[in-house]
Amino acid sequence: MTFLTEIDRVADLVEQRLAALLDQNAATPQGGDAGAPLAEAMRYAALGGGKRLRPFLLIKAAGLFGVPEAASLDAACALECVHCYSLVHDDLPAMDDDALRRGRPTVHIAFDEATAILAGDSLLTVAFEIVSAPHCHDDPAVRAELTHLLAKASGWRGMALGQALDLAAERRRFSPEETAAMQMLKTGALFRFACEAGAVLGRGDAASREALVRYANAFGQAFQLADDLLDTHGDAAAMGKAVSKDAERGKATLVGLLGVTKAKAHLAGLVAEAEAALTPFGSDAAVLIEAAHFVAERRS
Ligand code: IPE
Ligand code: IPE
Ligand code: MG
Ligand code: MG
Ligand code: MG
Repeated sequence: MTFLTEIDRVADLVEQRLAALLDQNAATPQGGDAGAPLAEAMRYAALGGGKRLRPFLLIKAAGLFGVPEAASLDAACALECVHCYSLVHDDLPAMDDDALRRGRPTVHIAFDEATAILAGDSLLTVAFEIVSAPHCHDDPAVRAELTHLLAKASGWRGMALGQALDLAAERRRFSPEETAAMQMLKTGALFRFACEAGAVLGRGDAASREALVRYANAFGQAFQLADDLLDTHGDAAAMGKAVSKDAERGKATLVGLLGVTKAKAHLAGLVAEAEAALTPFGSDAAVLIEAAHFVAERRS
């Protein structure tokens, strides 16, 4: 089984479960017709696109401990909801001001800005509805820990802080160290949650959890570095989003600071770091190692 067929298979599972979790017919019709665009915008943002890499890592990390996919799928969908929310807000005019995402108009273009803000808010909160619900996991202690970790990863000391720093860097020159720290938050925090959640669901010991966190930290940096490289020389059609925007907007990226050659060497080092972190899991971790190579070599 190749990595690509496997990620497609998991992406289908995620798509189906997210569609059920965000079923418009199941929404309480309190707003009647007036409330419909909000649910529609949430589904537009969450369904029908995306690599579903974060859910994939969560499900595969849990799989290292023998957790069946059905038992990690809801936590994976909750994480994807947070990610989709982050994209909706990232694309807003007040942030990166992008018109294309996943090959389609961004939510504020397809709907309007207020609906995009509210759809983002609601995708964030529905993530917590999902992860704290009994259908996510039968042990309340596991649900509570996942909820706590997801809140930390998403908010003022996690992804949202990283996004704030990303915007601050448009106004002040960041050093390579500051840039890496910003990227560990804006992108790394959700990948770290994916891997830690796997250990929580699998009741892994402290050493396994630390190994997964080391993997996630290297993976997250590699992922954002690849994204920044694709911004400089990627194909907008393959990416489904605009390219050549980071330099124009004055974004802090390691590509901008180190140049393409050094950035690529750094990327190779991060992939090696991610791979080394998984040594304790032996051949069980093969698919997670392939995932690290995939992100570094990806074209979309
Ligand atoms: C895009 O993430 C945002 C970044 C952190 C660079 P992905 O490249 O995982 O986006 P989708 O989910 O596949 O669209
Ligand atoms: C996005 O980083 C990170 C988050 C959404 C948290 P980017 O701004 O580089 O992502 P793209 O390039 O728009 O997908
Ligand atoms: Mg951004
Ligand atoms: Mg952006
Ligand atoms: Mg980018």
